[in-house]
Amino acid sequence: MTSYNQNRREFAKKTTAIAIGAATPCFFSTPRTLADETKSPNDRFRIGLIGAGGMGMGNMYAAKQWCDVVAIADVDAKRANNANHQLSGGKADVYCDYRAILDRDDYDALHIATPDHWHTKPLVEAMLAGKDVYCEKPMTLTIDEGKLIRKVAKQTGRIVQVGTQQRSTFNLFVKAIAMVAEGRVGKIKRLQAAIGGGPTSPAIPAVDVPSELNWERWLGPAPLVDYRYMSQKEGEKNQQYTNGHYDFRWWYEYSGGKLTDWGAHHVDIAMWALEANGQSPVPISVGGKSVHPVPYKDGYPTQNDRYNVATTFSIQALFPNDVELTIRDDSDNGVLIEGDQGRIFVSRNKLVGKPVEDLKENPLPEDAIQKVYKGLPMVDNERRAHWANFIHCCRERQEPISDVHSHMRALNICHLAGIAARFDRTIRWDGDTEQIVGDEQANALLARPYRKGYEIEM
Ligand SMILES: NC(=O)c1ccc[n+]([C@@H]2O[C@H](COP(=O)([O-])OP(=O)(O)OC[C@H]3O[C@@H](n4cnc5c(N)ncnc54)[C@H](O)[C@@H]3O)[C@@H](O)[C@H]2O)c1
Repeated sequence: MTSYNQNRREFAKKTTAIAIGAATPCFFSTPRTLADETKSPNDRFRIGLIGAGGMGMGNMYAAKQWCDVVAIADVDAKRANNANHQLSGGKADVYCDYRAILDRDDYDALHIATPDHWHTKPLVEAMLAGKDVYCEKPMTLTIDEGKLIRKVAKQTGRIVQVGTQQRSTFNLFVKAIAMVAEGRVGKIKRLQAAIGGGPTSPAIPAVDVPSELNWERWLGPAPLVDYRYMSQKEGEKNQQYTNGHYDFRWWYEYSGGKLTDWGAHHVDIAMWALEANGQSPVPISVGGKSVHPVPYKDGYPTQNDRYNVATTFSIQALFPNDVELTIRDDSDNGVLIEGDQGRIFVSRNKLVGKPVEDLKENPLPEDAIQKVYKGLPMVDNERRAHWANFIHCCRERQEPISDVHSHMRALNICHLAGIAARFDRTIRWDGDTEQIVGDEQANALLARPYRKGYEIEM
């Protein structure tokens, strides 16, 4: 096994490349044969995993029927070694610096499941190194990062699947989109993405960094700050708070809070519906009400020792033809699609509404769901199906169901909602120039500086 801290250049010198790929037969000849045809070791899909936390592990378990993890990078040595043990029986190579994996060519694709501020840099560098990537949502931390990813994806032709697995939930979200495409709600007038609110925290003290965690590298492109952690008894539970693992979601420095965490899922479905309805998913303006757990000044939090992203919000995105999307925290989690002939509500556990009841009398055409799923094989549900979709698309060089372009269109709205919330004002968006109109201060938040030493290697 390669040593955890081995330098990537040293590693590159020692590695023998193993050719994989073009000659490997596609195992998706028909959707139903997927499980059987992956029995042969030659058909297995080899993965380099970057970020072995909750989602990286969850995804690799979900895809284990088809995938072998051959290399793992995590800045937390304990997590990296645990992942090696759990996923690969100790046979994978383990690194702190993901670039050692980019230097190898003995695997089929990369999986990036790092915190949000660590998506764009490895994704762009991976595409430039000729890798296909399954990257977790939200794909970016800023709107300008999306522009760069779009450019590099076009330039390199690599396959990129974004981890919005709701796009592979056939009996719920995909069916809802098929209903919209078949005209079952008429012309969409209003949409709602209910995504739940963000939590608050007490003041979290700066403490020593655990010995297994390379905190400086965890921060990477983000500003260099203290590591914060505390654990306290709350009722029966031992509640933990940090600015690191998992909780990064609640800090604007690393994420956009619920607006991008869940917005990346539900706003994506809402925009997919608009497109299926033949309408523009590019907003004209975004703004509304929001509450942050700390005061903001000029778009930035004024306290640095506790969660800082919006906890409650009701933010409207306005589209051409007076179509309106409300992103809110205070309603049943899911997506409401309201047209001039009916409305449906879809979530991770239900699809309801009069047009759904009407399906008994007037079912969808047999190929309606398949058409929405771009004719791609439908092997299973959710996470597994999303992985099967990715593997199929890598082998067949097709665009996956959650491609860079559709994801970026939806995520831009989430980012704009976050910017509007940070300034507490409505912003106008020019979809052609991809700029905020007449608001220099808000426009400045389309990008973020990368910390020295962590710029993207182009
Ligand atoms: N699709 C979904 O439904 C879904 C669900 C949960 C999380 N996610 C996404 O997955 C991502 C990870 O979330 P999580 O909950 O697993 O977080 P996590 O904190 O549990 O895991 C992230 C891991 O990445 C590691 N890491 C950080 N910087 C790194 C670097 N430079 N190189 C290698 N490893 C690095 C961390 O040490 C940690 O182990 C987030 O972007 C999140 O939005 C998606």
